[in-house]
Amino acid sequence: MKASAVAPANIAFIKYWGKIDEELRLPANGSISMNLDKCLTTTTVEFDKRYAEDSFEMIEEVVKEKEIERVKRYLSKLRKIAGKEIYAKVLSQNTFPKSSGIASSASGFAALLLAASKALGLNFGEKELTILARIGSGSACRSIPSGFVEWKFGKTNEQSYAYSLYPENYWDLRDILAIVGTDKKKVPTTEGMESSKNTSIFYKVRVIEAHKLLKKMKSAFKMKDFRILGEIIETDAIYMHCVMMSTSPALFYWTPKTLEIIKNIIQWREEGFESYFTIDAGPNVHIICEGKNEQKIIDKLKKIENIESIIVNKPAKGAHLINKHLF
Ligand code: DP6
Repeated sequence: MKASAVAPANIAFIKYWGKIDEELRLPANGSISMNLDKCLTTTTVEFDKRYAEDSFEMIEEVVKEKEIERVKRYLSKLRKIAGKEIYAKVLSQNTFPKSSGIASSASGFAALLLAASKALGLNFGEKELTILARIGSGSACRSIPSGFVEWKFGKTNEQSYAYSLYPENYWDLRDILAIVGTDKKKVPTTEGMESSKNTSIFYKVRVIEAHKLLKKMKSAFKMKDFRILGEIIETDAIYMHCVMMSTSPALFYWTPKTLEIIKNIIQWREEGFESYFTIDAGPNVHIICEGKNEQKIIDKLKKIENIESIIVNKPAKGAHLINKHLF
């Protein structure tokens, strides 16, 4: 049977950087994110007796052998749950350009899980889906529920799931993504965070702080206090990058352009245009602001030289099935 799904990428406001269980991908701390409406993955999965093995391809993108193997391992897990010995053809497409530097594992595994489970005739509820997506790639669990999502810290497989804290229309926020570099990550996130756990002297202290920041962020959401939300977003991003930079070998993701944009954001704030930055495992800067300031921030950003492209994201709904197939 054939099924297709769309899932958004998400930007973490409280980050996930480290696991307490590698196999189950249980995070060392809970995290909070916003789904991105302009960064989507569409995936079609067909299980059929005529396939002698699993295949995975992306439209207009070359997929590395390692990534294909990861998808195949994941499909085997789902096959085991379904109790079916049948192989699949998987085809995916991203709306965001390959060169945008956005990690596609979150939207990728969320869309893959939803399409594959439907095609296998498995009917999971949202909570179960988030647990299974987490096993594919940790951040993928946050792309299943809608809007603003919390991925809970938990010591067992069942305790660490994601749910929608608030729907996408709860708060008119933007993630204005400034693309400044398209270098493919040299160290994959899975390896990078494991290395941080083993070598960074700041790893443990950041995990303790992240638990506290998450609590504070939930109250900022409740009060819709943008200043407090933004300050926590920046603090947690800086803490995570301190851990990355103090990892051995060091994980330096920032470029001079990254820092230039950060300094501009601080300056804009002083001028009254409130926005805050966050950065993942790459040089690109996510500028978080309220909808009312979107155009002003874009205008200011455009004055900075050598920004390759700008993607303006609104909060999005989570992964969902669609009727249109890619093949
Ligand atoms: C920096 O979800 O890619 O984007 O579970 O090992 O696949 P794995 O890691 P992944 O890590 C994302 C790390 C991050 C921060 C975040 O999104 O929370």
